[in-house]
Amino acid sequence: MITMALAKGRLAEESCNLLLKCGIPAQVIKSDTRKLVLSTEDGAFRFFLVKPTDVPTYVEYGIADLGIVGKDTLMERGADLYEMLDLGYEACKLCIAGYPERKDSLTNAHLRVATKYENIAKRLYAARGEDIEIIHLHGSIELAPVTGLSDVIFDVVQTGSTLRANGLVVLEEVYDVSARLVANKVSLKTKAAEIMPLIEAMRRQI
Ligand code: PRP
Repeated sequence: MITMALAKGRLAEESCNLLLKCGIPAQVIKSDTRKLVLSTEDGAFRFFLVKPTDVPTYVEYGIADLGIVGKDTLMERGADLYEMLDLGYEACKLCIAGYPERKDSLTNAHLRVATKYENIAKRLYAARGEDIEIIHLHGSIELAPVTGLSDVIFDVVQTGSTLRANGLVVLEEVYDVSARLVANKVSLKTKAAEIMPLIEAMRRQI
């Protein structure tokens, strides 16, 4: 049996579609259930639908052999696992965004940056030698500059509609991110006969 940890939310439907295209009867993922462990009828696959930030944890500890999660989450968590494939979907950009007239504030000594990607933002600004204050939020990041909580945000932008709806713009595109297939380091050796054909099937679908 192969166990997969899948990020619920935006990624779940496309992950399910990819698995179906690879011949895995994964439609159980789309079922409206409160069950946390979902299995295919033949018992060959088991799925955990978890918060995106928890996917690397389940894979790193070997509770799941494989996982599908965004590159942004992997960069933020820095887990000890193998990144096997860029699956291409859920393509977004990690950006610095804010009010257009605040573009010059990017050079301020103590810029206030609101983000849910605290570690990535810290590394980014440290590499630039910029002294900033991180304001950690868990969601609705765009509210921070609108209310004056922060000068700018560092956040994921996909369609840009949330920024536009709140009068904000991208000030700088920093990283391209998308869904990634990750593997537990031990599972890749001990279950290679089952896992490698699956990875190859996914590669053909990209
Ligand atoms: C993310 C992100 C932005 C939005 C960007 O939030 O933090 O707010 O999506 O997408 P867009 O460019 O297509 O508008 P998410 O919807 O995951 O919810 P959250 O605010 O609760 O984090």
